[in-house]
Amino acid sequence: MITDAKWICAPADLGEVCPVFSKEIRTKGPVKKAVLLVSATGVYEAKINDTRVGNFILAPGCTSYRTRLQYQRYDVTAMLAKENRLCICLGKGWYRGRISENDKRIHETPGAVIAELVIEYEDGSVCSVITDASWSVCTSRILFSDLYDGETYNASAPIKEIGFAAVCSSISVDTLILQEGEIVTEHERLKPVRIFTTPRGEQVIDFGQNIAGYVALTVTAKEGERIVLSHAEVLDAEGNFYTQNYRSAKSKLTYICREGHQTYHPFFTYFGFQYVRIDEYPGDIHAADFTAVAIYSDMKRTGYLETGDQKINKLYQNTLWSLLDNFIDIPTDCPQRDERMGWLGDAQVFAKTASYYYDTKRFFAKWLSDLRAEQREDGSVPDTVPNFWLLTRSSTAWGDAMTIIPWQLYLMFGDREILESNYEAMKRWVDFMTRDSLDEYLWTCADDSDLMWRKHYGDWLALDAPEGSYRGVTPDNFIASAFYAYSTELLIKAGHVLGKDMVEYEALYRNIVSTFQKTFTEYTTQTECVLALYFHLTDHVAETAKLLHDMIVQNGCKLKTGFVGTPYLLYALSENGYAKTAYSLLMQEDYPSWLYEVNHGATTIWEHWDGIRDDGSLWSADMNSYNHYAYGAVVDWLYSVAAGIRPNEERPGFQEVTIAPVPDRRLGYMRVSLDTAYGTVTSFWQYEGDKVCYEITTPVKATIVIDGKKCDVERGTYRFLTKLFG
Ligand code: BGC
Repeated sequence: MITDAKWICAPADLGEVCPVFSKEIRTKGPVKKAVLLVSATGVYEAKINDTRVGNFILAPGCTSYRTRLQYQRYDVTAMLAKENRLCICLGKGWYRGRISENDKRIHETPGAVIAELVIEYEDGSVCSVITDASWSVCTSRILFSDLYDGETYNASAPIKEIGFAAVCSSISVDTLILQEGEIVTEHERLKPVRIFTTPRGEQVIDFGQNIAGYVALTVTAKEGERIVLSHAEVLDAEGNFYTQNYRSAKSKLTYICREGHQTYHPFFTYFGFQYVRIDEYPGDIHAADFTAVAIYSDMKRTGYLETGDQKINKLYQNTLWSLLDNFIDIPTDCPQRDERMGWLGDAQVFAKTASYYYDTKRFFAKWLSDLRAEQREDGSVPDTVPNFWLLTRSSTAWGDAMTIIPWQLYLMFGDREILESNYEAMKRWVDFMTRDSLDEYLWTCADDSDLMWRKHYGDWLALDAPEGSYRGVTPDNFIASAFYAYSTELLIKAGHVLGKDMVEYEALYRNIVSTFQKTFTEYTTQTECVLALYFHLTDHVAETAKLLHDMIVQNGCKLKTGFVGTPYLLYALSENGYAKTAYSLLMQEDYPSWLYEVNHGATTIWEHWDGIRDDGSLWSADMNSYNHYAYGAVVDWLYSVAAGIRPNEERPGFQEVTIAPVPDRRLGYMRVSLDTAYGTVTSFWQYEGDKVCYEITTPVKATIVIDGKKCDVERGTYRFLTKLFG
């Protein structure tokens, strides 16, 4: 715990220049153990004797700073010598960067660091070095840094001593918490796949993959020569560099060289990009001098999937990249434009998929703590967490992240604790919906014709949206009431796990379902059918499934769903006798479809089904990300239905497993493996002539379902061969 240290800031205004706080430390004998605790109102990089402490990019991370600010704990025993210099460089990051400018209370906090170095000597004595007014402050060579706008670094700028640090008593130490999440680190390093000149005559590097991170440079130059790089995700229809979809995010990197050979990568910013335009560069451009470095939260990979269809494999890879590019300490909507917010809806629809690729428990548990911290008195939750934009609404399907994500984590990782810590908040969210509704047992609100400021986001970006709107036609009251039922159902399940008396909520749930059935008697959109089926809200299952199937067939075997309907669309079909239709949608290649994007060169998941049109033209610049993971939620259907690997609700976390593959000849074969706390589950199937062969390995008791036939098995490897008819 940080106990005695003080928050310190620069004694004078350094403008945009990042300050460096430093302290000379002399050890008084052999060191047994040394631990450094650090945090900042911004982002920091600490060094001892010029060597970086730890590898956390953008430490101390992104949290709801009003109540929660992480500090990190580093074992620095091996870094200490007799004479030492401890330096902490401070950038703006989320805390004071443009991203938080709406939240003045956060944004206008002075830039400060706090640190405590606890040295335990071999002789048993313990000494602490704390941040206080004895620390020195100087300038760094980082002249400007902002998450949205990029970084300016002058490698030959003189370092100016500013004086002693000022103690900043206005910043509280009460919000400090020990690191809870995963740390963000550097990962893949990509070399340019081509460097070319656009029709407009600009020099552009293509890294072949849309990533979140930055470019690392190696260059030999003269002092004062400049390198200026701009970032983009796509080229426009003419093949020119296109940045309009970044909106106001400048995403520019300016590096002013010193004399000689040098390397550099940005310290306190990141970009979402595949292409880099070289606006200024000294001398010849060599591909070897540019490396794109991907950064993301350092989670453990658990799930692997491969099929006999290269395009589906590409879709799977693209989803993986969108996951990584948007798991930068918080689950963001996108990594490139002036947004990068922890939108609840996006996280909610994608959490299941993410948890099949990676062990996301720690990542989401931290974010859920922020979500709870931001939950309002009345139980409502803001649509983004942290709520840097001070949003005052609470939308259906977005707010339900509060119930859906804890339950998903419990199923995948079997951790009761996640339910324990979130149960009260889940309950408050359900109670909020109950109180907020105009009608009992539904969640309804007055129709608001102002599309922009409506309470809910509706079936966001659905293709049945009226001209000029982002919201599909499925009525808000339908969606909100359906999610009200679903969240109540999950709350009841969580309550049962925790041994709570749920009688009241069970009655509430029954009332919601029956009122829903009485109120919404006809389904006219794909999303309505999907929600009614997936949330078990209809008594007419076969009829509704057929209706959904027919709607899809009449629409040329194409979907019309948006953020709300798409994640459950294939389930609603395959769980109700229409697996073939689900596969047809999955493998559809014409617009709108998952493979349309693949065919149009996507390396990540797009925000819009038609981010790039057949003629190469692009969606309007105001809301067009090429790295939005929401529609990638289809991947959990691949893992849990096509390969059929599902955790058992009664024995969560894969203490027991159900493996019920649903094969389709069009995919050829499917091979999936999933590392769980109890061992690796694998599911393989392949079409061979008129037979399907299966090979399933389970490390625990399992229920295997092949062609509707169930068998309970002990751990082991099982092979099946089924003959196809018709
Ligand atoms: C984001 C979405 C988000 C939405 C709310 C957008 O600007 O990029 O993904 O969920 O706003 O409707």
